[in-house]
Amino acid sequence: MSAARGVGCGKVILLGEHSVVHGRPALAAGLSRGATTDVTASPDGLTRARFVFDTEQVDVLAAEDGEHPLGRALAALLATYSAPPPVHLTVRLELPAGAGLGASAAMGVSVSSALDHFLSVERTPAERATQTLVWERVFHGNPSGVDNTMAAVGGVALFTRGEPLVPVRVRRPLLLVIGHSGEASETKQMVGLVAQQLEREPERITQVFDAIAVLVRNARLALEAGDLRALGQLMDMNHSLLSALMLSTPRLEDLCHAAREAGALGAKVTGAGGGGCMIALAADTDAAHIILAALQSLGAESFVTEVGA
Ligand code: MEV
Repeated sequence: MSAARGVGCGKVILLGEHSVVHGRPALAAGLSRGATTDVTASPDGLTRARFVFDTEQVDVLAAEDGEHPLGRALAALLATYSAPPPVHLTVRLELPAGAGLGASAAMGVSVSSALDHFLSVERTPAERATQTLVWERVFHGNPSGVDNTMAAVGGVALFTRGEPLVPVRVRRPLLLVIGHSGEASETKQMVGLVAQQLEREPERITQVFDAIAVLVRNARLALEAGDLRALGQLMDMNHSLLSALMLSTPRLEDLCHAAREAGALGAKVTGAGGGGCMIALAADTDAAHIILAALQSLGAESFVTEVGA
């Protein structure tokens, strides 16, 4: 067994986060950035991993009952292999963590893909999506599976929990500007916040989820028709409903407002909310750069990305 490498991509949720946890559909897209894992045989008989983030690195041993969630996630993923040999892994993350861009899923998928190459295991992207749910559960408690599915499969797709992924044929690639609020957020905590609201006010929150599902279905049609204006409006409406679920913050509101003022066709929180990132839809490259400059002038770390190309 020689050294091997695997990759996993990050994701953006175009519409439908949170309601997707409760069985409604979401529209999501894979990002070209994500995570890369290198694996080699272990020289010391132990399975360990080094996670290299932007500003720090974390070393863990794979351990089911370990202190660090990354060590527990690694153990959970290794348990899906029959008698895996001890290995050393280096995982490099190219996305901000805790920002709604699917960083943990990108890492899990890159680890699975590296291990599969190393062990000569054949697995389809859909099978990898199912396999890596064990990794995501360590971090997120009750994940819908959208993050690890998009990290494994990529492209633009309609995801519904427990159903096969439906690829969406995008008439023209989307130019998105992604802005980071600079506020950290925990998916598990935000998913818990929505679950509490559902328990307290089942009728109202169910109506919100159903309204988001309608927006998602229309957004799929808009994407297929290449109607970016309609897609942008649907994103704005989805943002309002996410705000009604208390998933936005004053900073995210400011960034979405600035993006719209700068010409975005639509702007919204993406991912778990409560911090993390927002996305803005641009009509073309020039518009994207104007929106980017507006977000940067507010001090937000931002970048332009194309999805569905
Ligand atoms: C997180 O990227 C998306 C959420 O809908 C959680 C999930 O689907 O598991 C907030």
